[in-house]
Amino acid sequence: MTYAPTTLEALTADAAAVMARYPSPRSALLPLLHLTQSVDGYVSPDAIAFCAETLGLTAAEVSAVATFYTQFKRQPNGRYTLGVCVTSLCAIMGGDAIFERLSEYLAVGNDQTTADGLFTLEKIECNAACDYAPVMMVNWEFFDNQTPASAVQVVDDLRAGRPVRPSRGPDQVHTFKEVSRVLAGFEDGHADEGPPAGASSLAGLRLAAPGLAAEEAAPAEPAPDGAPAEPAPEGARAADADDDQGDQNDHGDQKDQGDQNDQGDQTASGKDGGEAK
Ligand code: FES
Repeated sequence: MTYAPTTLEALTADAAAVMARYPSPRSALLPLLHLTQSVDGYVSPDAIAFCAETLGLTAAEVSAVATFYTQFKRQPNGRYTLGVCVTSLCAIMGGDAIFERLSEYLAVGNDQTTADGLFTLEKIECNAACDYAPVMMVNWEFFDNQTPASAVQVVDDLRAGRPVRPSRGPDQVHTFKEVSRVLAGFEDGHADEGPPAGASSLAGLRLAAPGLAAEEAAPAEPAPDGAPAEPAPEGARAADADDDQGDQNDHGDQKDQGDQNDQGDQTASGKDGGEAK
């Protein structure tokens, strides 16, 4: 290993804190790989050796894990990872076009890093944010309802050092190394910033709550022979639910679209002043 003594000392102390959370040292491999990425910017040969030696594993075992998960990078990663979702829904909503535009704008292909080391561009699979398709992620923070133009704007703002605010999550995007340390389990104090979930994601919950309440209040069928009353027939409750769904489609979609458009505007314009980390 070629880590400087102070770096190795800090890594060792942090690794001990991580390992203390698990009954078996080898269980700490994933967070330790994130931890080394927070130092080197990728899973370097030194990182492989450090994890193996610290956890009592072979280098082959560590490499096998590091090459399995796409969040672990085997070559120096950019300061910002731009992940464009190209799974079906995002793709047809514009994800493919966003990726192509960024690829052209940055002059890099999939899983490649710009010459200045600022950006790594990659295609990503569904990030469970389909209600905001097409989605782009910057260091795994969500940017909802993107367009090729808004994605380029995010790049320009990051390149200019302006603070860039994700649609959800922390108040601004942090660097790959900073986020890697969070993923290793070391809080950065930003966990409570920003909305934890957007309006579209919560729409179902909002609409389901009144429906459930109505079902609980459904009038009971009179019992023919003095037996205990039965709840309303399933079909009646289903019909009620259909009515509710109709209402949702009538009103919820329009409201949601409005929210999405609002969010898109914020993403495209809310990035002036200040200094990115
Ligand atoms: S398809 Fe892109 S977030 Fe689900």
